[in-house]
Amino acid sequence: MKALVLSGGKGTRLRPLTYTIAKQLVPVANKPILGYVIDHIRDAGIKELGVIISPETGNEVKRYIDGGRKWGMRVSFIPQAEPLGLAHAVNTARDFLGNDDFVMYLGDNLLSRGVKDALKKFTRDRAQALIFLKEVADPKQFGVAKLDDRGHILRLIEKPKRPPSNLALVGVYVFSKEIHKAIARIKPSFRGELEITDAIQELIDMGYRVTSETLDGWWLDTGKKDSILEANTVVLDEYVQREIKGSVDASSRLTGRVTVEKGAVIRNSIIRGPAIVGKETEIANSFIGPFTSIGDSVTILDSVIEHSVILNNAFLSGIERLEDSLVGKNTRVIRESARHKALRLMVGDDSTIEV
Ligand code: G1P
Repeated sequence: MKALVLSGGKGTRLRPLTYTIAKQLVPVANKPILGYVIDHIRDAGIKELGVIISPETGNEVKRYIDGGRKWGMRVSFIPQAEPLGLAHAVNTARDFLGNDDFVMYLGDNLLSRGVKDALKKFTRDRAQALIFLKEVADPKQFGVAKLDDRGHILRLIEKPKRPPSNLALVGVYVFSKEIHKAIARIKPSFRGELEITDAIQELIDMGYRVTSETLDGWWLDTGKKDSILEANTVVLDEYVQREIKGSVDASSRLTGRVTVEKGAVIRNSIIRGPAIVGKETEIANSFIGPFTSIGDSVTILDSVIEHSVILNNAFLSGIERLEDSLVGKNTRVIRESARHKALRLMVGDDSTIEV
């Protein structure tokens, strides 16, 4: 079993952040989404990983994965010159995949329970493909499945105008080598892409066995349905542990699941979990959390911050109340007048905001 992670694309939905960073590298609870994806693949016992990269962001993705050493995996980077669809990405990776079974994971998707159990089910079912489904509010922007009463797949349709159900195809799939035959038979869709949904439908039409698993845990899709703030809330809630590696003075109080990384300094502040404070970050005379991720080398002075994501090297001072906000790298938010009470910000990297 191999893994193929798709990490190309332009990430237009996550602007302004994705002007300066690949969408798969946007940090959620201080770790890029792609990092959780590769953790899940490693946890399923897979040793060989292929990563599809684009000309725009390929180098930063390569730099982050750094040869796969952190995960003990062999990694091949596979450039896809143009975003011509998920099935086209599989074609592009044909040499890497050979005739092996593989799990394909979109690098901006995340499943609460990873893929370990699903891979066992795939082997047990002797299927040619396993897809994951999840109920969504707006199925039109996804691939959608129609099932019969017993849960067998009747039909899969990409971005249907009139969805036959609210079961969306999640961006994680398991395939055997037969998928290549199906891809060879499909044509580009109305949006000019070779759709993996059409290829799976083709597999069914060819008489192969395609099974599905409807997820009961959460599914994050930061490329489409979930904002980074929502993803941050879900991931903090699930993964953050109480772990204090930095220094916290006697007049500070940390309640609940709070992680304070090495070199961080907390003075005269209250932090309510779930929350994470990155390496070398300084927090003084402030109230942080819950559901807040503060990156590395951030400075926060005399401020109240709740339900927010603050990226590396930001500087915030005198902010009476910042909530539901995302503050990019190297950004300064400084209060100069006493007029504003609560602030809501969505600011990319390298900005200065004086309020
Ligand atoms: C792709 C698939 C779609 C699936 C979705 C999950 O959509 O084509 O079937 O539901 O990923 O994120 P795209 O991101 O290409 O619009």
